[in-house]
Amino acid sequence: MLETTFLGMKLPNPVMVAAGPWNRDGKGLKESLEAGAGAVVTESIVSDTMLDVRPRISCDRLGAQNIRMYSDIQVEGWEREMDIAKSAGGVVIASVSGHTPSELAYLASKMERFGADAIELSVSNPAAESLEVVASHADILFDMTKEVVSAVSIPVMVKLSQNTTNISKVAKAVKAAGGSGVTAINTVRGILGVDLEKAEPSLSTYGGISGEYIRPLGLASVATIAQTTDIPICGVGGISSAENALEYMMLGASTVQVGTEVMIKGKESIRKIVQNLEIWAQNHNVKNLSEIRGKALDNLKAFDEMKFEPAVSHANGVPCKENCNLCVNACMYNAISRSGDSIRIDRSKCTGCGLCASICPAKKLKIDL
Ligand SMILES: Cc1cc2nc3c(=O)[nH]c(=O)nc-3n(C[C@H](O)[C@H](O)[C@H](O)COP(=O)(O)O)c2cc1C
Ligand code: SF4
Ligand code: SF4
Repeated sequence: MLETTFLGMKLPNPVMVAAGPWNRDGKGLKESLEAGAGAVVTESIVSDTMLDVRPRISCDRLGAQNIRMYSDIQVEGWEREMDIAKSAGGVVIASVSGHTPSELAYLASKMERFGADAIELSVSNPAAESLEVVASHADILFDMTKEVVSAVSIPVMVKLSQNTTNISKVAKAVKAAGGSGVTAINTVRGILGVDLEKAEPSLSTYGGISGEYIRPLGLASVATIAQTTDIPICGVGGISSAENALEYMMLGASTVQVGTEVMIKGKESIRKIVQNLEIWAQNHNVKNLSEIRGKALDNLKAFDEMKFEPAVSHANGVPCKENCNLCVNACMYNAISRSGDSIRIDRSKCTGCGLCASICPAKKLKIDL
């Protein structure tokens, strides 16, 4: 039911484990596949490995910031790691990172020789200034993609950044250069927080924010690419459940990747997401996930297409003993009041902004269109 073909590769399910230190070697990749991942992506491989800064990861309830850069295994060492990874019998995608087209093409062709099933170009790491710039330049990305595509015979996907002004322009450049697909999105440049007593930012330099914080950004990026560019998309950013994976698919992703959830909860979290995806598909009588791909895009209009019709909250007297009063406090137009065990909405003051309906934990309020 979850089997899918992505860029010509047959996957048992569409949930991949994203590039990162949890996939830093053959053993890590094998464990990800054994936990049920549909495919795995290596931590990004570079031509010049460097020492890791310490500390380089900080996290909180909603996500993480990292300044971990790349794999510390030299490209030659990946021959052995790929043998270990491939012994699990699944699809292994090699993430390669570099500054020039020829450097990327060299790394990609090495990884193809070592058994990689596809290449993911990681040219969008916000912890590395110059790559962040690359991620917004369609012409540079075009040259990089073209050179890699001509150097290998396996599919090439390009990992895009939300830190760009026009993601569809960049995705179009990838397609024009012969790229087979895009992955969206990489981490987003940020600072997780500041320790007030020590006056210290969470890490000693800017880093890439991942996890729940970036899911809305990832969803918007995927939807924009899907609406403007005919290219297969792998959605990534803040996925921690089957529902999150489905959100990405309904906005146009064919497959998804999970990073921070695996980092924080461990690889078994993949099995849970895949199992729940299967249950959801069964319960919704979905035979193949391609049936729901892009389904929510029909309900996603451009702003100029929005209707400016009067819409108001319907509640003249909604019985409510919850007493959370979130709606009363949230209404900026002072339209909501409580009267004993019921919530009253003054229709003459309600402007139909929708906040009360979305904030109500008991889903008691709705907007009449
Ligand atoms: C600690 C850490 C290291 C990462 N390393 C890489 C990397 O080597 N290459 C890459 O393309 N993305 C890397 N990423 C980005 C993830 O693959 C993913 O795009 C991002 O974290 C968003 O997904 P998530 O919210 O599920 O983590 C890393 C993320 C984290 C948190
Ligand atoms: S937000 Fe919902 S549950 Fe809370 S008081 Fe208002 S109607 Fe009741
Ligand atoms: S829709 Fe907006 S304006 Fe109307 S009652 Fe709810 S919060 Fe107030």
